[in-house]
Amino acid sequence: MNVFSSIPLTILPLLFLLCAIETTLAQNVSLIRNTCKTSVTNDPNIKLNFCTTSLQAAPASRCASLRGLAMISIRLLRYNVTDTRCLIKQLEKTKNWDDFNKRRLNDCLEVYSDAIPSVKQAMKSFNAKKYDDANIQITAVMDAATTCEDGFKERGNGTTSSSPLKKRNDDAFQLGAIALSVLRIIQRARVI
Ligand SMILES: *[C@@H]1O[C@H](CO)[C@@H](O)[C@H](O)[C@H]1NC(C)=O
Ligand SMILES: *[C@@H]1O[C@H](CO)[C@@H](O)[C@H](O)[C@H]1NC(C)=O
Ligand SMILES: *[C@@H]1O[C@H](CO)[C@@H](O)[C@H](O)[C@H]1NC(C)=O
Repeated sequence: MNVFSSIPLTILPLLFLLCAIETTLAQNVSLIRNTCKTSVTNDPNIKLNFCTTSLQAAPASRCASLRGLAMISIRLLRYNVTDTRCLIKQLEKTKNWDDFNKRRLNDCLEVYSDAIPSVKQAMKSFNAKKYDDANIQITAVMDAATTCEDGFKERGNGTTSSSPLKKRNDDAFQLGAIALSVLRIIQRARVI
């Protein structure tokens, strides 16, 4: 009987622990939410839903600090940009593009190729707490996405059409904007 009655007592600390873990996790989910809310205010290009789903989908983001979230957003940008460069190469091979689209895709390949070392450099700068450098390097990546998308708009016959890379360009731009916003929050807080 003694053994049975003592079980609840041994479970009690465990329950407290679980509860504490839950609370911390909840706090960090709201860290993502609050960071995204602030980011939307910082930059109207950022959509709240895009921000929260992107960050929440990233591995270990629940456990991340603000610094961790910044790193995660730069990493997301890096994967996106790397994959987009690969996609452009595939697109160039697999479709019969007219001259205009061929040239534009080639321009995109060029700017995205330059964006990859920039985003890698941004990770290094961020790790070294060189936030201004990281800012410039992330901005360069966002410019690449804008340049790629804008190229398709200049057909010359007065028509505007979006590019076959519109979603990719939009994603890269928004991920970059999120990364910049988290950097700004960190710099403003000056506690890290
Ligand atoms: C790029 O990032 C967006 C937003 O997180 C995501 O939905 C998309 O799947 C990513 N694309 C690639 C190819 O990684
Ligand atoms: C939650 O984020 C804080 C920083 O805001 C971090 O120090 C802590 O380790 C995170 N909590 C968990 C459970 O990982
Ligand atoms: C402009 O060029 C595109 C691609 O060649 C074509 O699809 C479109 O019909 C053209 N528009 C006009 C107004 O000529």
